[in-house]
Parts: sequence; C-alpha cells; structure tokens
Amino acid sequence: MTLNGETATEELGARIARGLRTGDAVLLSGELGAGKTVLARGILRALGIAENVPSPTFTLVQPYETGALTLHHFDLYRIEDASEMTELGLDDALGQGAVLVEWPERGFPSRLAGDALRIALTATGTETREARIAGPAHWRDILGGGA
Ligand SMILES: Nc1ncnc2c1ncn2[C@@H]1O[C@H](COP(=O)(O)OP(=O)(O)OP(=O)(O)O)[C@@H](O)[C@H]1O
Ligand SMILES: [Mg+2]
Repeated sequence: MTLNGETATEELGARIARGLRTGDAVLLSGELGAGKTVLARGILRALGIAENVPSPTFTLVQPYETGALTLHHFDLYRIEDASEMTELGLDDALGQGAVLVEWPERGFPSRLAGDALRIALTATGTETREARIAGPAHWRDILGGGA
C-alpha cells in the first residue's frame, strides 16, 4: 500500500495495534529513514504511549507498558551477533506481550519470521512510502485488502 505522509504511516500503525496480541512479532524492514520508527510510534501511540518513541539504537531494546499489552521495541541495527538476541530477552518479551523489531534481518530468528507480521518500507518520494505487507492470514481481516 502507498503511505502518503507520516500521518498515513502512523495510521497503519494504529490499525496494526488493534490486532496485536501476546506472542506477536511485527518486523519492520527498510533502509535508514524508511519510516520504521514512525510506524512503531504509530503502534505505540495507538496503545496509549504518549512519551517520545526514539529508535532504541544503542540500548537495542526499549520496553513499554500499555494498559492492554507489554511491548518491546527492538532496533537491531547495531547488534554485533544474532546470538545477542538471547541476552536481549526476545523469548521473554514474546511471552510477556508483543515485539516490534527494526532491522530484523540482523538478528531476528528466521524460525520465528513466518509467524510474524512483516512490513517492508521503501521511500518513493520525500513524503511517500510504499509498504509491502506479509504475514499470517488473520492480519488480512485487520488490515484490509491491502494486506
Ligand atoms: N510517509 C512517511 N512515512 C514515514 N516517514 C516519513 C514519511 N514521509 C516522510 N517521512 C520521514 O522519514 C523519516 C523516517 O524516519 P524513521 O526514523 O522512522 O526511519 P527508520 O526507518 O526508523 O530509520 P532507521 O533505520 O535509521 O532507524 C522521518 O523523518 C519522517 O518524518
Ligand atoms: Mg528507526
């Protein structure tokens, strides 16, 4: 689907938020500046997180408590080895709630990727992004025909 402006990307995040359950992973891929953090922020805002949502570039993971769900926002850009995912507590995070993962190709276990909602963002202009969405079939009902 085409996302015309940051607001459209945040709105996609709000729709994703409605479908999120414990154990869900949302993988956000795309180049630097593609809009992964904007989409993550849209998800978190829709769940009631009012604070700033920076990319957890240096801490690699940032936990959030919402009324309904615990969320962990990962940014694996600076991960040195995929084995660090264990120390970062991915399994616990999935047991406690949902996870949002920027740069999943750098460390998210491929055995779990098939069950994840996968969003690939590409810049098509200064304010426009193309989102390619793949994942389990139930997301189609939540996100509409574009999924
Ligand atoms: N339609 C759009 N959707 C999302 N972001 C947009 C859009 N149009 C313009 N932008 C701008 O693109 C930038 C996206 O930045 P963002 O931090 O979300 O990228 P990122 O993919 O998380 O990059 P990084 O890999 O560095 O973490 C922001 O400055 C945002 O304002
Ligand atoms: Mg980011």
